[in-house]
Amino acid sequence: MIITIDGPAAAGKGTVSAYLAEKYKLAYFDTGMVYRAVGLQMILSQNDVNDENKAEQIAMELSFPKMIELSKHKDFRSDIGGQAASIVSAHPKVRAALLKMQQNFALNPTFADGSPAKGVVYDGRDTGTVVCPEAELKIFITASTEVRAQRRYKEFIQKGMNTTYEKVLQDMISRDERDSSRATAPLKPADDAVIIDTSDLSINQVLQKIIPLIEARF
Ligand code: C5P
Repeated sequence: MIITIDGPAAAGKGTVSAYLAEKYKLAYFDTGMVYRAVGLQMILSQNDVNDENKAEQIAMELSFPKMIELSKHKDFRSDIGGQAASIVSAHPKVRAALLKMQQNFALNPTFADGSPAKGVVYDGRDTGTVVCPEAELKIFITASTEVRAQRRYKEFIQKGMNTTYEKVLQDMISRDERDSSRATAPLKPADDAVIIDTSDLSINQVLQKIIPLIEARF
């Protein structure tokens, strides 16, 4: 069973994906992590994130253990990490280098402890269009830019990060713009995706829309 949940930042993909993975005993692959790992590694090794060849080299060397190690860094989830991820993810060579790693996961999905799972929930931008076009269920989750910026701002404040709503909103606008306009795998719903706008919905209400779709298919 393969389910893809794509959409822009802070639309609610992560919470929904993690819940569904837990409920249906599926592995969970947050594909944003691979781009965050490459972006952060570029910063830590003092490379210019616009250097496509260097970013490709780092992408080719990326492993799951390395990604987990980088995910513990304070900037992995910060707006610095998000912007770096968005810049490196626009390089076609980086996307190509990271594609197999993401696709291979579905051939042999595992939980965090290494035990085998019978399927996977992918969370990302292009998982229904490029990574796994054969997925049985594709969801595209979206919400207005302001609502998403407000959610992300609250998240950062709860984590004790020092930022303002205006800064988060500006970062969100530039990240959306870059993710949607890049030449390779731009952010867009798959033709056969179910689109859900979560602007006025709670996570519970979103799940109430998705769960019947899963139960009808599997
Ligand atoms: O989802 P998250 O905010 O962690 O993703 C960070 C960045 O990685 C996104 O802004 C996007 O540029 C990139 N990304 C991508 N394709 C994916 C997942 C994330 O290009 N499948």
